[in-house]
Amino acid sequence: MFGAMSILSGKARIAGITGWPVSHSRSPRLHGFWLQRHTIDGAYIPLPIHPDNWTVAIHGLVAAGFAGANVTIPHKLAAFAICHTVDDTARRAGAVNTLVFNEGRITGSNTDGWGFVANLRHHGVDPAAGPALLLGAGGSARAIAAALQDAGATVAVANRTPERAEALARDLPGLRIIDWDARSDALADHALLVNTTSLGMTGHPPLEIDLGKASANMAVADIVYVPLETPLLADAARRGLRPVEGLGMLLYQAIPGFRAWFGVEPVVDDELRRFVAADLLPS
Ligand SMILES: NC(=O)c1ccc[n+]([C@@H]2O[C@H](COP(=O)([O-])OP(=O)(O)OC[C@H]3O[C@@H](n4cnc5c(N)ncnc54)[C@H](OP(=O)(O)O)[C@@H]3O)[C@@H](O)[C@H]2O)c1
Repeated sequence: MFGAMSILSGKARIAGITGWPVSHSRSPRLHGFWLQRHTIDGAYIPLPIHPDNWTVAIHGLVAAGFAGANVTIPHKLAAFAICHTVDDTARRAGAVNTLVFNEGRITGSNTDGWGFVANLRHHGVDPAAGPALLLGAGGSARAIAAALQDAGATVAVANRTPERAEALARDLPGLRIIDWDARSDALADHALLVNTTSLGMTGHPPLEIDLGKASANMAVADIVYVPLETPLLADAARRGLRPVEGLGMLLYQAIPGFRAWFGVEPVVDDELRRFVAADLLPS
């Protein structure tokens, strides 16, 4: 059923993902699935744009009548700066991953944190059930920390570079800082662990943490989704903790953009998961 190219009309709605590079992105596959499922007259395309050209390229997309775009590394800060208006999460995260164009105006939002929390709930984890410990203080950590606070959780962050954790704590009042080297000892005081670093991703060093010190029934989320089951998640499963994979966050964060660009509320279900996951299996 899936895989055939759609024939577009002259009224087709067009969106895409801007990044540099962008060839690794699964977003065209994900949005393409929904476009075909709902037989929408529209397309979602990869838009590799060098940072030097990003701002002019976005104004070009607006002028060309695009419906909007997703934004990935390294453009999320530039995307924040280009918007006429941004939503509250984007403002607190200082970064934008979803752009909607409407009559020359650019609206920005950050759906990464919302997608993370939606995936937690899908796995039966209440984000406000207890304190959360975030490893990492990069772009995705910002969005996730803001969303967890909004959901009612107390959030602590541990990052290799302390200055980055301190900057995050300044932007998100109430956020606690934990020394990177104390991350294993801090596990007992938290109900949720979230790896937002790139550690554990294929081609990157492993994340070193002693889950033997985790609180009973701890939820262990990894936002890395290549591989689908990271060593951290496998370790959590072996110990009877509650693993939460990163692919679901990718799927859920795409919902608000798709709805805004194509006018249909898509759903994340097993068929979509299998379709996107099939592209992530080792070849
Ligand atoms: N599931 C999803 O939908 C989704 C969405 C977005 C991102 N991601 C994944 O999340 C990961 C992070 O993305 P990002 O955009 O937040 O990246 P980022 O802004 O570059 O932040 C990277 C983080 O990883 C830490 N880190 C990197 N190497 C490290 C090492 N050797 N030891 C300790 N810490 C290290 C960095 O610490 P320092 O500050 O010390 O450098 C920083 O906190 C990536 O793997 C990305 O693929 C997944």
